[in-house]
Amino acid sequence: MKTIFSGIQPSGTLTLGNYLGALKHFTQLQEDHDCFFCIVDEHAITVPQDRLKLRNNIRSLAALYLASGIDPEKSTLFIQSEVAAHTQLGWMLQSISYMGELERMTQFKDKSNKETAISSGLLTYPTLMAADILLYNTDIVPVGEDQKQHLELTRNLAQRFNNKYNDIFTVPEVSIPKVGARIMSLQDPTKKMSKSDSNEKGFISMLDEPKKIEKKIKSAVTDSEGKVKYDKENKPGVSNLLTIYSICSGESIDVLEEKYEGKGYGVFKQDVANAVIHLLEPIQNKYYALIDSEDLDNILDRGADKAGMTANRTVAKAKKAMGLGRVK
Ligand code: TYM
Repeated sequence: MKTIFSGIQPSGTLTLGNYLGALKHFTQLQEDHDCFFCIVDEHAITVPQDRLKLRNNIRSLAALYLASGIDPEKSTLFIQSEVAAHTQLGWMLQSISYMGELERMTQFKDKSNKETAISSGLLTYPTLMAADILLYNTDIVPVGEDQKQHLELTRNLAQRFNNKYNDIFTVPEVSIPKVGARIMSLQDPTKKMSKSDSNEKGFISMLDEPKKIEKKIKSAVTDSEGKVKYDKENKPGVSNLLTIYSICSGESIDVLEEKYEGKGYGVFKQDVANAVIHLLEPIQNKYYALIDSEDLDNILDRGADKAGMTANRTVAKAKKAMGLGRVK
């Protein structure tokens, strides 16, 4: 059985983009893969975080994973900082990475433009991400489009380590969905939907109430043509709504274009909103039942133990390959 690893940062409530680009696929993959899903809290601290908010976001993300359908009997769900092997291997990989390749990462460039004081963690972040993946002999990493470059670096680091020291890492493949890999902001459809957007109208949070979802979709930026047609270049707003609607409803974009021929954006937007609400409501109900439960803690404890067993074995191999510590 192939191994899957993926992670999500607990840096705010997840957006519909996170769900459609990543989480939704995780739940399908767990049926026939050995899956590790991680709450990557050590990644979140590369930018300033409020201690109490971070704690809440970690728990909230764990509950959202489960509410979305991650089954702890099938998948290993755990918190990155509870498995020390991540930072251990992260350091080893950082030591074989080059400044130039890290500085070329577009996410580093974007994020460092927004910060006044740039932490060195923001630069070395992709080496920790590579460690996350390589610790579990991962075959496939399901992610949205924005993580593609980080995955290329992970593959390079794995190959570099294997060639230089010993052939211990599986070189992982990236898996990016054909539709939904880049859900765009509702207010600026040339930018990706992001949970750190300062304009709340730009994203739908997975925990937004139905009324709020409706309002946000109704005020989504479109164009003056009044035609429901998929054209990413010239009609990015409508195309984004069509993508969202298509994944939420399971109907193809062609079918939707036909359905809304001759109809204005008003009816279309109302139906997109209904489809999103229909998708998120059951997840939200499960989320509220889980968030304060003891079950959640037990699942995360078991997850950290199980992940730790595999991860520690890999760290021991990597230390031996690099000549760290003593021969025992
Ligand atoms: P993060 O927390 O920003 O996002 C989590 C997942 O959601 C996807 N995603 C999107 N997909 C479609 N449209 C969007 N607008 C959108 N926004 C986000 C992301 O591509 C991602 O799959 N560095 C990672 C977390 C990470 C990780 C890992 C991922 C750390 N270690 C190891 C995979 C494997 C990140 O910041 O994702």
